[in-house]
Amino acid sequence: MTIQFLGKILQSPTVLASGILGNSKDILERVHENGCGLVTMKSIGPEPRDGHKNPTVIDLGHGMINAVGLPSPGYLNMENEWKQLEKRNFPLIASVYGGSVREYQMVAEFVSSKKPDFIEINISCPNSEKHGMIFGVNPQSSHDVVAAVKKVINVPLIVKLTPQAPDIGEIAKACENAGADAICAINTVGPGMVIDIEAKMPVLAFKKGGLSGPMVKPVAVRCVFDIYKAVKIPIIGLGGITTGEDAIEIVMAGASLAGIGSAVRYRGIDVFQKVTKEMETWLSDHHLHIEDIKGAAHKEK
Ligand SMILES: Cc1cc2nc3c(=O)[nH]c(=O)nc-3n(C[C@H](O)[C@H](O)[C@H](O)COP(=O)(O)O)c2cc1C
Repeated sequence: MTIQFLGKILQSPTVLASGILGNSKDILERVHENGCGLVTMKSIGPEPRDGHKNPTVIDLGHGMINAVGLPSPGYLNMENEWKQLEKRNFPLIASVYGGSVREYQMVAEFVSSKKPDFIEINISCPNSEKHGMIFGVNPQSSHDVVAAVKKVINVPLIVKLTPQAPDIGEIAKACENAGADAICAINTVGPGMVIDIEAKMPVLAFKKGGLSGPMVKPVAVRCVFDIYKAVKIPIIGLGGITTGEDAIEIVMAGASLAGIGSAVRYRGIDVFQKVTKEMETWLSDHHLHIEDIKGAAHKEK
């Protein structure tokens, strides 16, 4: 099922979520070969960062809790990866984060020179200029970072939002007004905590972590619904998408594409192919096209 997104033709409406399979061309290419329409790199930051101590990811069965801590080699230390990725034959989103508007700008400008097809800014990080508050929970700081990045890049800009925002529609609108070309939602939910009652301690070394996978899907669907109401730009909907029917649900909330993260663990690297096939089966059983169901849940009864 081919689909158009911001002027590119994609082989399917599925997207690999950021941070799930790293940044090596070989792995990202395998994701594409397994039916993924658009592949997102792990978020790239301003400086080398080790991330948190292990354990960093725990599978809870109905989803995962993670505190990987945004490990990154730093944007200036990825020449090998970029050299390989230059020769890719698949559409790529490079994900960027920073601790200040200037850092986002610096990393995004550099990354733009490496010619990914899109840049996504992950605005779920603490803003050091505002005493650790997360950029993406405040419309003004979201607007400022989007406007600043938009000025220095020459590929379309996607903004990845956090479900922690009190009014995610308002944040999406601020991003659209600042020049964002698309929205991606959601990042992990939380933070949450899981305690091992025998050890009497939190299971994650960092104690708290973000939730993902099937248990967060209703939050993702609600967020995409609110964003669709607020903006005209396209939405990549993700959070718990595991089956074709989950993908249909997020499209009905308003998404143009369905992102997949944790489900790579649950269903394997060919999850993209499986989800696309399941979507096609559902659509043909109902004599519908994907465009017919986009935002369908917004129609008044
Ligand atoms: C282990 C792990 C690492 C992640 N790393 C990133 C990251 O580097 N950047 C980012 O924007 N999101 C990151 N995420 C969030 C995912 O991209 C996605 O938004 C979230 O997991 C919800 O989707 P899912 O339920 O399909 O996993 C990470 C998620 C997990 C589970």
